[in-house]
Amino acid sequence: MKTTLLKINSRNPELEKINLVSKAIICGKLVAFPTETVYGLGANAFDQKAISQIFKVKGRPQDNPLIVHIFDISQVEQLAKVFPQSAQRLIKEFWPGPLTIVLKKKKIVPKIVTAGLDSVAIRMPENKIALKLIKQSKVPIVAPSANLSGKPSPTKARHVIDDIFGKVDYIIDGGNCKIGIESTVIDFTSKVPTILRPGYITKEDIEKVIGKVEISKSKSKTAPKAPGMKYKHYSPKAKVLLISKNKIKLEIKKQLENKEKIAIITFNNKIENKDLVFSKDYNQLIDYSKNLFSDFRFADKKKASAIIVQEVPDQKFGHSIMNRLKKAAGS
Ligand code: TXA
Ligand code: MG
Repeated sequence: MKTTLLKINSRNPELEKINLVSKAIICGKLVAFPTETVYGLGANAFDQKAISQIFKVKGRPQDNPLIVHIFDISQVEQLAKVFPQSAQRLIKEFWPGPLTIVLKKKKIVPKIVTAGLDSVAIRMPENKIALKLIKQSKVPIVAPSANLSGKPSPTKARHVIDDIFGKVDYIIDGGNCKIGIESTVIDFTSKVPTILRPGYITKEDIEKVIGKVEISKSKSKTAPKAPGMKYKHYSPKAKVLLISKNKIKLEIKKQLENKEKIAIITFNNKIENKDLVFSKDYNQLIDYSKNLFSDFRFADKKKASAIIVQEVPDQKFGHSIMNRLKKAAGS
């Protein structure tokens, strides 16, 4: 298939380019686009044929539901049967932004979107290209992360090209994603709202607005609350070793002795060693998260056999980053 790569200005998206890709969405085509979290692979949320194509292109298991992206709060009513007060208060605070809410769905939402669940996940992204694309398409847009299933989510157009060029109609290049890990998912269909996937918006941020919430503990592989969380995710080809700050140097020594080709990602702990494939050190959590998946992919490109990643403080946003690190390390 012919894939058109389209560069769009993220600060001031060119309307004629947006209109071109909106038309493609309406015609049942697939468009990869940037959001503030990660790149998404979008299709018209009411077009079952286009959506089934998304699953095929990604190699995504059929039982993993998709997030529906909207540009205006009024669209929630179109998709959800119940819109609890607490959910309304929360989105007033954080939309547009990296927050996804799960609500009881209306019949209009196709089963393929929700993998047969009676709930639907909804998000209003903050990225201007994403918002304009949804607005001009005049339909909600389903979009999983635009990576091949199992690979780290894409945070640059280059990653999307590497994974799915030739398999989708358009790839929009709108620059780097500024958060770099996927949105916080919170379920409002349970008695107490429950965080299914941690992200940039933390439990503490949420509790300030709506009071006590829970964190999903479901480790069950057969009936997980957020079906996507059961799959091995975010994994580069290289093995990922999650190590605490004071053990990093020892681990490097050990792995080098084992003849491993290692890359390292550290947090406020710069280490120079010419035998490393690369070493990156970040001083802020947001820089760590923004670059994480990109560094994973870079390590694979450089044929590293192991990536040593340093733990970050396991609280607030650091907890969300640790969630991704643990998954990548398979722990
Ligand atoms: O930041 C993001 O959320 C990105 C960008 C593109 O918006 N999207 C994304 O989509 O990460 P995806 O498909 O890679 O992850 C969606 C997650 C999965 O874990 C899925 O199981 C969960 O949301 N999910 C979707 N619908 C759900 C539902 N009805 N109930 C529970 N979990 C749901
Ligand atoms: Mg994903």
